[in-house]
Amino acid sequence: MPRSVSKVVIPAAGLGTRFLPATKALPKEMLPVVDKPAIQYVVEEAVRAGIPDVLFVTGRNKNALENHFDRATELEAILTRKGDEQRLSKVAESTELANVHYVRQGDPRGLGHAVLRSRAHVGANSFAVLLGDDIIDERDPLLERLLQVHDERDACVVALMEVDPSQTHMYGIATVEKTEQPDVVRITGLVEKPQGGRAPSNLAIVGRYVLKPEIYPVLERTKPGRGGEIQLTDALLAMASDATTGGVFGVIFRGRRYDTGDRLDYIKANVQLAVEREDIGPGLRSWIKEFAATLED
Ligand code: UTP
Repeated sequence: MPRSVSKVVIPAAGLGTRFLPATKALPKEMLPVVDKPAIQYVVEEAVRAGIPDVLFVTGRNKNALENHFDRATELEAILTRKGDEQRLSKVAESTELANVHYVRQGDPRGLGHAVLRSRAHVGANSFAVLLGDDIIDERDPLLERLLQVHDERDACVVALMEVDPSQTHMYGIATVEKTEQPDVVRITGLVEKPQGGRAPSNLAIVGRYVLKPEIYPVLERTKPGRGGEIQLTDALLAMASDATTGGVFGVIFRGRRYDTGDRLDYIKANVQLAVEREDIGPGLRSWIKEFAATLED
């Protein structure tokens, strides 16, 4: 069956203030995780799910991002001259990965506003939104499952994960009802980054969404919410409350996710992914054990 979703939108226009000064001249999505920019893992995920049409919503400092997915002819010529096939293939990898398109956000007025900027490219079809803050392990396919649930239910679908109650203030948090499928819930309420222990559950939205085009007029009407930004969560809540839109469903993900959204989680993600690697993993593992022993007090 042909897939009903053929476009992926990757918002990368946030200010990335939690990573300053690293993000002064570089989008946060371009920070390396081991040896690849975080955003490359996300594009690889889209391609694995069969969707190589990728639209980046970019902000200031977009050059590094565009250059990464473009040819690097000078570098390629030098590596070719040296006969360094291995590094040459690493340079070419990101160029050949996907069909990339760009749109500027203008003012960074929030994730909802960034998604709204994809409207002309996406048109009247459903589409996926993937955030560079989350890397999903390729052994635990999540996007495929979201696409399947979207096709079955003809509804917007978001990825949910159980998080520690101490972390709920960092996420959009959902109130849900069970469905007949154990990993699928109907979303009845959503609140963006609830503060002061007011989270209605510990089910957090992680950065994967499959959205129906009906979200666009809703986003257009959505007023600035938390932090004075146009929040995708608020538009999804409006969709969830309006039965004519098909509602909003959540897929509860229990697989491996590496969070790169704040500094501590970013360091952890680098370590988690590096220990799995054949080249540097063994050396890193034994060093971590030695290093951990020096931390005993
Ligand atoms: P975040 O909430 O993590 O914000 O955005 P941020 O600005 O990137 O980072 P901090 O909090 O200042 O450190 C979630 C996602 O939405 C995108 C970001 O690029 C990130 O992928 N985003 C956010 C936009 O594209 N535009 C915006 O106006 C805001």
